Amino acid sequence: MTAIASVKGRRVWDSRGHPTVEVDVTLENGVLGRAIAPAGASRGTREAIDLRDGGKALRGKGVAQALDSVNGPIAAGLIGRDASDQRAADNVMLTLDQSPLKETLGGNATVATSLAILHAAAADAGLPLWQYVATHYGCTPSLPLPEIQIFGGGAHAGRRVDIQDFMILVPGARDFDEVMEITNEVYFAAGDIMASRGKLAGVADEGGWWPVFDSNEEALETLVAAIEKAGEKPGENVVISLDIAASEFGKNGQYRLALEDRAMDSGQLIDMLGGWMDSYPIASIEDPVGEDDPDGMIEFTRRFGDKVQIIGDDYLVTNAKLVEDAAGAGACNAVLVKVNQAGTVSESVDTFRAAKAHGWGAIVSARSGETEDVSISHLATGLGGGQLKVGSFTRSERMVKWNECLRIQDVLGRDAFVGGTPMMNTWWGAKQKETA
Ligand code: PGA
Ligand code: ZN
Repeated sequence: MTAIASVKGRRVWDSRGHPTVEVDVTLENGVLGRAIAPAGASRGTREAIDLRDGGKALRGKGVAQALDSVNGPIAAGLIGRDASDQRAADNVMLTLDQSPLKETLGGNATVATSLAILHAAAADAGLPLWQYVATHYGCTPSLPLPEIQIFGGGAHAGRRVDIQDFMILVPGARDFDEVMEITNEVYFAAGDIMASRGKLAGVADEGGWWPVFDSNEEALETLVAAIEKAGEKPGENVVISLDIAASEFGKNGQYRLALEDRAMDSGQLIDMLGGWMDSYPIASIEDPVGEDDPDGMIEFTRRFGDKVQIIGDDYLVTNAKLVEDAAGAGACNAVLVKVNQAGTVSESVDTFRAAKAHGWGAIVSARSGETEDVSISHLATGLGGGQLKVGSFTRSERMVKWNECLRIQDVLGRDAFVGGTPMMNTWWGAKQKETA
């Protein structure tokens, strides 16, 4: 065992210019592990709380209290502990903070610490993080299929369109490089089309184009046009993935698309999305209904669960118990895994395992507020999750994660590119048969 010698928090700044928590964990032999907490904007109500100072300074987003948690009780509880026992280390924090949403220590304090311990243990073992994760959790590593944003909307683009993420997947690609090349072509083709139509307003929070569309469906039409302009065939090698993030525009089964000034109930929203799936090559859809609409999610899954990947993000908040409940009820067939929603690595791995046990997809994901931290590229690869969601194809806090996958590919080999979760692979296999 190598014991933790010190745990130190420092304030750093994220991709939106807001403060966030970085933690250095140093072991008794001098080995260092470092990680930074990301931050969401369209947050689920049941996810771990980011502890923020409030008040006028820094728009209320100061992290002095979260840093006090790290440098005070968390450091005191962890010094002397074995860094390679991730579970025990995470349990120290769970014992210190027994509130349901980690509001005492702050999820930003716990997640940065938990990931920093993982980094320190990997460095101590002399392994890259992805390899340490695979060994530590008994997983077969594989390079994930990227899920890449082309247009941003919802809370990430001033709600200019209601739907939050218009993304592409390239499930038929032969390796990670080919996904990057095709994405480059589609991303710039989309920008050219929008600029030529006077529909481009800039870039959204995750680096995707900030669109000025007249309807949500116009985004889908433009995305299909961009895939074609890039020389690819929509629905064949390039498919569409949507994050509806419906909790952002609906409550209690009642929804309102502001762009189209259209109110609808859960059934009408499901019908509208069903219509989109008939008209556009959509292979994956996230949070199609609100986090408080289990009947809607069950109905959506009953109708479309064998056709598309249905991901719970705000709906499941990286919570193993919620995954168990949803699987039992027939809601969703995949989970988004965001380590800061759970607050610790161990709880995130529990969620990942719960999803796998039900034959679900498990998609490791970034947040809209990100940094140079590349932990998620390693987690997605080491756990062999099959899919990675990072945001768009510009801005360094996104590109750093795609580029890290390319470095991992150099070690792991091109054959380790799996091209999707089990659900995506089933879908892709069926599509291949249809077109054969
Ligand atoms: P968030 O959005 O990080 O702002 O919560 C990302 C997502 O909804 O997937
Ligand atoms: Zn989401």
